[in-house]
Amino acid sequence: MVALARTQSFAYDAETSAFAADVITGLSAQRKRVPPKYFYDEKGSELFERITEQPEYYPTRCEMSILREQGADIAKLIAPGAALTEFGSGSNQKARILLAAAPQLAVYVPVDICGPMVEQEAAELAPDFPALKVLPVAADFTQTFALPQEAADAPARVGFFPGSTIGNLEPHEAASFLRNAAKTLGSGARMIIGADLVKDSETLNAAYNDAAGFTEKFNLNLLTRINRELGGTFDLSTFEHHAFYNRERQRIEMHLASTRRQKVKAAGETFEFRAGETIHTENSYKHTPDSLAALARGVGWEPAGVWTDAERRFSIQAFSLPKTAKV
Ligand code: SAH
Ligand code: AVI
Repeated sequence: MVALARTQSFAYDAETSAFAADVITGLSAQRKRVPPKYFYDEKGSELFERITEQPEYYPTRCEMSILREQGADIAKLIAPGAALTEFGSGSNQKARILLAAAPQLAVYVPVDICGPMVEQEAAELAPDFPALKVLPVAADFTQTFALPQEAADAPARVGFFPGSTIGNLEPHEAASFLRNAAKTLGSGARMIIGADLVKDSETLNAAYNDAAGFTEKFNLNLLTRINRELGGTFDLSTFEHHAFYNRERQRIEMHLASTRRQKVKAAGETFEFRAGETIHTENSYKHTPDSLAALARGVGWEPAGVWTDAERRFSIQAFSLPKTAKV
């Protein structure tokens, strides 16, 4: 156990210490915020899966249809014996489609911050792909981490970053993720990224305000997690889910808005809220093929293909690192 300097009364493990430090920094800022990676405890991962089943949340259905219909073409980028590393793997449903389209893959490494989810999804998938080595890794993909030896030793490496999770990173964080991924995967690597596309605000606002309320539950679950893991005193009935498209910045913003003036404790500190003040919990940037290509090019990845659904709601974009690239 590691004691966190500013919270004398708490003793946390390393993971919880990082959570406490981010919550203290985020809630002390003039514009309160908490990084979206903390949504994904077991309950949050389960709620995200429910979101993907809602009629308004089109990204998952669109991306699955691209993978089903154009997976064979996408799979041409994958060399025989290659290792596929999936960043933020969550449910195994998309990996199953890509793995079936690319039987030449020898190793699959799902990486997720939610340890129980990555272990369970890998265990369910492995028996259906007996020729494949499935090596789950519980890690934060915004930090550097080592690939399992079998993946490091494979003749080629391919990254898979579906779900538009790249949109939850600020543009400078997305660039730094791609720079780190280049180091992890090595020169000559390929990267397959699912990215949601810029579109009308009506469709976008509906996708993040589903009528059944699963996005609201997903957002509020962050406060439940802070209460449980960091001794928080958030009263969930005094916070509201707000999600809206910020057209100028081409992103959905999610916030939790305090309905009244109040003080809340978390991680040994006290935070004051004005009535209407929000905690900014997530951005979900929407891209164009050109905007993502420009971002990737800036850190050495060359565009290698773009696939979209018939309505051009969602895209899968591939990139490659030259064999001569210095990583
Ligand atoms: N790939 C799946 C899941 C997307 S949801 C799909 O396309 O449907 C985002 C996933 O990324 C979650 O499973 C979450 O636990 C994981 N995740 C979010 N931030 C992460 C981080 N910093 N490091 C590792 N995994 C992360
Ligand atoms: C995982 N990520 C890409 C989702 C998104 O659409 O930004 C998370 C999410 N947040 C609210 N609904 C879904």
